[in-house]
Amino acid sequence: MDSDQELPEGTVQNILDQDSLKWVFVGGKGGVGKTTCSSVLSILLSRVRPSVLIISTDPAHNLSDAFQQRFTKSPTLINGFTNLYAMEVDPTTENEEALGTDGMDGFLSDLANSIPGIDEAMSFAEMLKLVQTMDYSVIVFDTAPTGHTLRLLQFPSTLEKGLVKMMSLKNKFGGLISQMTRLFGGGDEFGEDAILGKLEGMKELIEQVNMQFKDPDLTTFVCVCIPEFLSLYETERLVQELTKFEIDTHNIIINQVLYDEEGVESQLLKARMRMQQKYLDQFYMLYDDFHITKLPLLPEEVCGVDALKSFSRHFLSPYQPSVNEDTVEEVERRVSSLREQLTEAEAELERLRKGKQKV
Ligand SMILES: Nc1ncnc2c1ncn2[C@@H]1O[C@H](COP(=O)(O)OP(=O)(O)O)[C@@H](O)[C@H]1O
Ligand SMILES: [Mg+2]
Repeated sequence: MDSDQELPEGTVQNILDQDSLKWVFVGGKGGVGKTTCSSVLSILLSRVRPSVLIISTDPAHNLSDAFQQRFTKSPTLINGFTNLYAMEVDPTTENEEALGTDGMDGFLSDLANSIPGIDEAMSFAEMLKLVQTMDYSVIVFDTAPTGHTLRLLQFPSTLEKGLVKMMSLKNKFGGLISQMTRLFGGGDEFGEDAILGKLEGMKELIEQVNMQFKDPDLTTFVCVCIPEFLSLYETERLVQELTKFEIDTHNIIINQVLYDEEGVESQLLKARMRMQQKYLDQFYMLYDDFHITKLPLLPEEVCGVDALKSFSRHFLSPYQPSVNEDTVEEVERRVSSLREQLTEAEAELERLRKGKQKV
């Protein structure tokens, strides 16, 4: 078929070729293979870049498991490499440090912390600032499951709202805040203006970071998923959210694909292959302008540098499915079922959006 020829190549080569990239996010639902894929991507990038850092922001850190090496919140050289480093950061700690709120517990820190997501976003922004001074050629993120990452990317507007809220509180209560500050907090450095100034500073920092994230020359988001309905649905949500936040995404990795190998007798396996094929078709229809890389489900886990390296070949040479001689009716049936599910998914998305706006 002609249209097949126009599909973007089904590998991650495009990421390796784009040497302007500075930030590569890898995201998707838990358990689909984010850590595995981000680890392999970082290994592949280390072959074409002077230096690479992989950062896990998922509180359920498993870079250590994937590479079979302990990592901390400072970059550590990965065994067997000369230019590949890893670090694991917990996005929910260090907020005190980031906010500079030590010693001012009580009213003002409550106020500052009343801005939802501030602690997480600040430690993220501070971490990015730190990492930027370290001069890595490219930084790969093994991100926390979907919602988490998107919340971070959404943060500047959240902070903006929080600042407006604080300003209105300040106007309402006049000098009360500063009086209370002097009473409980001590010196002027904790005064309201200082706090507001600090928040303004944070806003600037986060805006700077976001400007980079919105630049497709610098940043891309790789969506990892598996060929099942929920994952397809989640991926569509992710892609839409990324589009909304103007973050580039043009790679989808479909992990855990069953190969239709000769001699498969199991009815269960055959049934699952048919199911997977249905969703694979849908991925290709929905994302015909994306690079879609398919990875086989292995009989064993992908653990340790050797296993990751060996698995990496599937990122560079497309998996060739056996040619499927579908009847017209079969294709029509699939298309109409896809349409139904899409309508459902859109309705659900709309509901989600409305729900979110209320918060
Ligand atoms: N294609 C695959 N075949 C076999 N095992 C896999 C495959 N992809 C991932 N795994 C294993 O599945 C588990 C979960 O993968 P992981 O990358 O940690 O997912 P996530 O980070 O999304 O939670 C790990 O033990 C990993 O080794
Ligand atoms: Mg993980």
